Amino acid sequence: MVLSTGTNKIKTAVFISGTGSNLKSLIKFSKLKKSPISINLIFTNNKLAKGLKYGEIFKIKKKIINYQNKEIAEKKILNELEKNKIELVCLAGFMKILSKKFIKNFKGKILNIHPSLLPKYKGLNTHERAIENKDIYSGCTVHFVNSKLDSGKIILQKKVNILKKDTPNTLGKRILVQEHKLYPKAILKIFSL
Ligand code: GRF
Repeated sequence: MVLSTGTNKIKTAVFISGTGSNLKSLIKFSKLKKSPISINLIFTNNKLAKGLKYGEIFKIKKKIINYQNKEIAEKKILNELEKNKIELVCLAGFMKILSKKFIKNFKGKILNIHPSLLPKYKGLNTHERAIENKDIYSGCTVHFVNSKLDSGKIILQKKVNILKKDTPNTLGKRILVQEHKLYPKAILKIFSL
C-alpha cells in the first residue's frame, strides 16, 4: 500500500454525530497515494460521538460545536472552515441539517452519504421503510448537498439485496459495509472529472 504525506491534497472536513465508521474509512482512504483528499478537521454536534476517537487515533483536529443556537453554530463552523482552508466537506452521519445560508457561504463542495437508493427514502429510518414496503433491494447513495434534504445531484449509488430474514439492523449493517467503499469511490469520481 502506497502512503502519502497529505501535502497538496484537497483539504477536507468530515462532520459526524455518532459512530464514525464512514469517517474511519475516509481517513484510511485519505492516506492512500491515489486519494485526492486529506482529512484535516472533524466536526461534531455531539460531544459523546464515538467517532471522535478517530481524531485521537489519527491525530486529526476535532471541533465539538454547541448546536443550541444553529446560527451561531454554523458561523463558528464556517469560520473554522475558512481558517483551515477547507475545500471539501463530507457529511458522514451528521444529524443536523445545514442551512441554505451555510451551503451558499461555504465556497467549496459538500457531499453526503445516505443509507438508501435516493430519491427513495429521504430522511430517517430508511431500512425500516424499505423492509416494510417489501422492497427487494435497497442500498446507499453519495450525493452533493443542496438546500433540500437528501436531494442534491447523485454521484454514485450501490444496490444491496434485501433478504427475507433481514431486520433493519442486519440490512443496515450490510449497507454500511458498502457505504465504506462507496464514499471513497465517489470522491475519486468527482475529482477525476
Ligand atoms: C450511515 O448509515 C450514513 O449513511 C448515515 O448515517 C450512518 C452513519 O454511520 N447518514 P457512521 O457514523 O459513519 O458509522
